[in-house]
Amino acid sequence: MRLNKFLAESGVASRRKSDELIEQGRVDVNGKTVVKLGLDIDPEKDKIFVDGERVKPERKVYYMLNKPKGFVTTTSDERGRRTVVELIKTNKHIFPVGRLDYNTTGILLLTNDGEFANKLTHPRNKYERIYIAKINRPIEDKDKHRLLTGIFVDKRKSKFTKLELLHETNREKVVVGTVEGRNHFVKRMFETLGYKVLELQRISFGRFKLEGLRIGEYRELSKKEIDKLLKK
Ligand code: URA
Repeated sequence: MRLNKFLAESGVASRRKSDELIEQGRVDVNGKTVVKLGLDIDPEKDKIFVDGERVKPERKVYYMLNKPKGFVTTTSDERGRRTVVELIKTNKHIFPVGRLDYNTTGILLLTNDGEFANKLTHPRNKYERIYIAKINRPIEDKDKHRLLTGIFVDKRKSKFTKLELLHETNREKVVVGTVEGRNHFVKRMFETLGYKVLELQRISFGRFKLEGLRIGEYRELSKKEIDKLLKK
Protein backbone atom coordinates (compact mmCIF):
# COMPACT_ATOMS: atom_id res chain seq x y z
CA MET A 1 0.00 0.00 0.00
CA ARG A 2 1.19 3.55 -0.76
CA LEU A 3 2.52 5.31 2.33
CA ASN A 4 0.24 8.34 1.87
CA LYS A 5 -2.80 6.05 1.55
CA PHE A 6 -1.81 4.23 4.73
CA LEU A 7 -1.44 7.57 6.58
CA ALA A 8 -4.80 8.77 5.27
CA GLU A 9 -6.53 5.54 6.24
CA SER A 10 -4.97 5.67 9.67
CA GLY A 11 -6.49 9.07 10.28
CA VAL A 12 -3.27 11.10 10.19
CA ALA A 13 -4.44 13.48 7.47
CA SER A 14 -5.82 13.50 3.94
CA ARG A 15 -3.62 11.93 1.27
CA ARG A 16 -2.47 15.32 0.02
CA LYS A 17 -1.64 16.52 3.54
CA SER A 18 0.15 13.22 4.22
CA ASP A 19 2.37 13.88 1.21
CA GLU A 20 3.24 17.25 2.74
CA LEU A 21 4.18 15.54 6.03
CA ILE A 22 6.42 13.14 4.10
CA GLU A 23 8.12 15.99 2.24
CA GLN A 24 8.66 17.80 5.53
CA GLY A 25 10.63 14.79 6.78
CA ARG A 26 8.16 14.02 9.57
CA VAL A 27 7.51 10.40 8.59
CA ASP A 28 9.75 7.43 9.47
CA VAL A 29 9.42 3.89 8.16
CA ASN A 30 11.28 1.23 10.15
CA GLY A 31 13.52 3.85 11.72
CA LYS A 32 14.38 5.70 8.50
CA THR A 33 13.02 9.08 7.49
CA VAL A 34 11.25 8.98 4.14
CA VAL A 35 11.10 12.17 2.08
CA LYS A 36 10.37 10.76 -1.36
CA LEU A 37 6.75 10.36 -2.32
CA GLY A 38 5.26 7.15 -3.68
CA LEU A 39 6.82 4.61 -1.31
CA ASP A 40 4.97 1.31 -0.94
CA ILE A 41 4.71 -0.14 2.56
CA ASP A 42 3.33 -3.28 4.16
CA PRO A 43 0.74 -2.16 6.73
CA GLU A 44 1.16 -5.44 8.66
CA LYS A 45 4.93 -5.56 8.87
CA ASP A 46 6.33 -2.04 8.56
CA LYS A 47 6.56 0.28 11.54
CA ILE A 48 5.42 3.79 10.63
CA PHE A 49 5.96 6.86 12.80
CA VAL A 50 4.79 10.47 12.34
CA ASP A 51 6.59 13.06 14.48
CA GLY A 52 7.96 10.16 16.49
CA GLU A 53 4.54 8.67 17.22
CA ARG A 54 3.59 5.18 16.02
CA VAL A 55 0.74 5.17 13.53
CA LYS A 56 -1.72 2.28 13.51
CA PRO A 57 -4.93 1.99 11.53
CA GLU A 58 -7.98 2.88 13.62
CA ARG A 59 -11.74 2.41 13.20
CA LYS A 60 -13.21 5.09 10.93
CA VAL A 61 -15.40 7.67 12.62
CA TYR A 62 -17.44 10.55 11.20
CA TYR A 63 -18.85 13.55 13.03
CA MET A 64 -21.03 16.45 12.03
CA LEU A 65 -20.48 19.58 14.13
CA ASN A 66 -22.29 22.90 14.24
CA LYS A 67 -19.12 24.97 14.51
CA PRO A 68 -19.21 27.94 16.86
CA LYS A 69 -17.31 31.20 16.31
CA GLY A 70 -13.84 31.44 17.79
CA PHE A 71 -12.46 28.05 16.76
CA VAL A 72 -9.88 27.23 14.09
CA THR A 73 -10.45 24.31 11.73
CA THR A 74 -7.04 22.70 12.21
CA THR A 75 -5.83 20.05 14.63
CA SER A 76 -3.43 22.43 16.39
CA ASP A 77 -2.78 26.17 16.31
CA GLU A 78 0.57 27.84 16.81
CA ARG A 79 -1.18 30.93 18.19
CA GLY A 80 -2.83 28.84 20.89
CA ARG A 81 -6.37 29.38 19.66
CA ARG A 82 -8.98 26.71 20.36
CA THR A 83 -9.51 24.11 17.63
CA VAL A 84 -12.70 22.40 16.49
CA VAL A 85 -11.17 19.02 17.37
CA GLU A 86 -11.28 20.01 21.06
CA LEU A 87 -15.07 20.15 20.84
CA ILE A 88 -15.41 16.44 20.10
CA LYS A 89 -14.92 13.76 22.68
CA THR A 90 -13.03 10.95 20.99
CA ASN A 91 -9.68 9.21 21.24
CA LYS A 92 -9.47 8.88 17.44
CA HIS A 93 -7.18 11.09 15.35
CA ILE A 94 -9.89 13.15 13.71
CA PHE A 95 -9.40 16.24 11.56
CA PRO A 96 -11.78 18.67 9.87
CA VAL A 97 -12.93 18.05 6.31
CA GLY A 98 -11.97 21.32 4.59
CA ARG A 99 -11.90 24.70 6.26
CA LEU A 100 -14.16 27.28 7.81
CA ASP A 101 -12.91 30.67 8.98
CA TYR A 102 -12.38 31.38 12.68
CA ASN A 103 -15.65 33.29 12.94
CA THR A 104 -17.73 31.24 10.51
CA THR A 105 -20.37 29.00 12.06
CA GLY A 106 -22.23 25.98 10.78
CA ILE A 107 -21.76 22.53 9.38
CA LEU A 108 -18.32 21.01 9.61
CA LEU A 109 -17.53 17.32 9.14
CA LEU A 110 -14.68 15.73 11.07
CA THR A 111 -13.25 12.29 10.50
CA ASN A 112 -10.16 10.10 10.62
CA ASP A 113 -10.98 8.81 7.12
CA GLY A 114 -8.59 10.54 4.73
CA GLU A 115 -10.21 9.05 1.64
CA PHE A 116 -13.58 10.40 2.67
CA ALA A 117 -12.09 13.85 3.32
CA ASN A 118 -10.34 13.83 -0.05
CA LYS A 119 -13.47 12.84 -1.86
CA LEU A 120 -15.53 15.63 -0.34
CA THR A 121 -12.97 18.38 -0.80
CA HIS A 122 -11.50 17.52 -4.19
CA PRO A 123 -12.48 20.31 -6.62
CA ARG A 124 -13.25 17.73 -9.32
CA ASN A 125 -16.15 16.34 -7.28
CA LYS A 126 -17.90 19.71 -7.00
CA TYR A 127 -19.82 19.10 -3.79
CA GLU A 128 -21.98 22.19 -3.28
CA ARG A 129 -21.68 24.17 -0.05
CA ILE A 130 -24.57 26.46 0.94
CA TYR A 131 -24.03 29.48 3.20
CA ILE A 132 -26.14 32.22 4.73
CA ALA A 133 -24.19 35.47 4.60
CA LYS A 134 -24.98 38.77 6.28
CA ILE A 135 -23.46 41.59 4.25
CA ASN A 136 -22.89 45.23 5.11
CA ARG A 137 -25.22 46.80 2.54
CA PRO A 138 -28.19 45.74 0.40
CA ILE A 139 -27.22 43.52 -2.50
CA GLU A 140 -27.81 45.22 -5.84
CA ASP A 141 -29.45 43.25 -8.65
CA LYS A 142 -26.59 43.98 -11.04
CA ASP A 143 -24.10 42.53 -8.53
CA LYS A 144 -26.30 39.50 -7.94
CA HIS A 145 -26.14 38.90 -11.64
CA ARG A 146 -22.35 39.32 -11.76
CA LEU A 147 -21.79 36.96 -8.82
CA LEU A 148 -23.88 34.32 -10.58
CA THR A 149 -22.39 34.71 -14.04
CA GLY A 150 -18.78 35.09 -12.95
CA ILE A 151 -16.22 37.65 -11.78
CA PHE A 152 -12.44 37.40 -11.49
CA VAL A 153 -11.04 36.39 -8.11
CA ASP A 154 -7.33 35.44 -8.01
CA LYS A 155 -7.31 35.90 -11.78
CA ARG A 156 -9.78 33.04 -12.05
CA LYS A 157 -13.33 33.32 -13.28
CA SER A 158 -15.40 32.54 -10.19
CA LYS A 159 -19.11 32.37 -9.50
CA PHE A 160 -21.73 31.31 -7.04
CA THR A 161 -23.97 28.38 -7.99
CA LYS A 162 -26.85 30.05 -6.16
CA LEU A 163 -27.59 33.51 -4.76
CA GLU A 164 -30.99 34.28 -3.24
CA LEU A 165 -32.38 36.57 -0.57
CA LEU A 166 -33.06 34.75 2.70
CA HIS A 167 -36.16 36.93 3.24
CA GLU A 168 -37.73 38.87 0.38
CA THR A 169 -37.69 42.12 2.32
CA ASN A 170 -34.07 42.01 3.51
CA ARG A 171 -31.34 42.50 0.91
CA GLU A 172 -28.53 42.17 3.45
CA LYS A 173 -29.04 38.47 4.17
CA VAL A 174 -28.33 36.16 1.28
CA VAL A 175 -28.13 32.44 0.64
CA VAL A 176 -25.17 31.55 -1.57
CA GLY A 177 -23.98 28.28 -3.04
CA THR A 178 -20.48 27.37 -4.15
CA VAL A 179 -18.60 24.30 -5.30
CA GLU A 180 -15.30 25.99 -4.38
CA GLY A 181 -13.04 25.07 -1.51
CA ARG A 182 -10.73 28.07 -1.96
CA ASN A 183 -9.84 29.94 1.23
CA HIS A 184 -12.23 32.76 2.20
CA PHE A 185 -14.04 32.21 -1.09
CA VAL A 186 -17.42 33.66 -0.10
CA LYS A 187 -15.87 36.72 1.56
CA ARG A 188 -13.56 37.38 -1.35
CA MET A 189 -16.36 37.12 -3.91
CA PHE A 190 -18.30 39.82 -2.05
CA GLU A 191 -15.21 41.93 -1.33
CA THR A 192 -14.40 42.01 -5.04
CA LEU A 193 -17.64 43.92 -5.58
CA GLY A 194 -17.20 46.18 -2.55
CA TYR A 195 -19.30 44.33 0.04
CA LYS A 196 -18.18 43.09 3.43
CA VAL A 197 -19.39 39.79 4.88
CA LEU A 198 -20.30 40.46 8.52
CA GLU A 199 -21.50 36.97 9.39
CA LEU A 200 -21.25 33.64 7.69
CA GLN A 201 -22.97 30.34 8.44
CA ARG A 202 -22.67 27.15 6.40
CA ILE A 203 -25.93 25.22 6.31
CA SER A 204 -25.04 22.30 4.04
CA PHE A 205 -22.14 20.47 2.42
CA GLY A 206 -23.29 18.21 -0.43
CA ARG A 207 -26.21 16.26 1.01
CA PHE A 208 -25.04 16.75 4.59
CA LYS A 209 -27.36 19.27 6.21
CA LEU A 210 -27.08 21.18 9.42
CA GLU A 211 -30.29 20.00 11.04
CA GLY A 212 -31.16 19.58 14.67
CA LEU A 213 -27.75 20.66 15.95
CA ARG A 214 -27.40 23.77 18.04
CA ILE A 215 -24.18 25.79 17.91
CA GLY A 216 -21.36 23.73 19.43
CA GLU A 217 -23.33 20.47 19.26
CA TYR A 218 -22.22 17.48 17.23
CA ARG A 219 -23.27 13.95 16.45
CA GLU A 220 -21.60 10.86 15.09
CA LEU A 221 -22.68 9.64 11.66
CA SER A 222 -22.72 5.94 10.88
CA LYS A 223 -20.89 4.55 7.85
CA LYS A 224 -24.30 3.61 6.43
CA GLU A 225 -25.49 7.20 6.75
CA ILE A 226 -22.26 8.42 5.15
CA ASP A 227 -22.64 6.08 2.17
CA LYS A 228 -26.22 7.22 1.66
CA LEU A 229 -25.31 10.89 1.83
CA LEU A 230 -22.35 10.51 -0.50
CA LYS A 231 -24.57 9.37 -3.35
CA LYS A 232 -24.96 12.36 -5.64
N1 URA B 1 -15.90 31.26 2.53
C1 URA B 1 -15.43 32.15 3.42
O1 URA B 1 -15.15 33.28 3.09
N2 URA B 1 -15.27 31.74 4.70
C2 URA B 1 -15.59 30.51 5.13
O2 URA B 1 -15.44 30.21 6.32
C3 URA B 1 -16.08 29.59 4.19
C4 URA B 1 -16.23 29.99 2.90
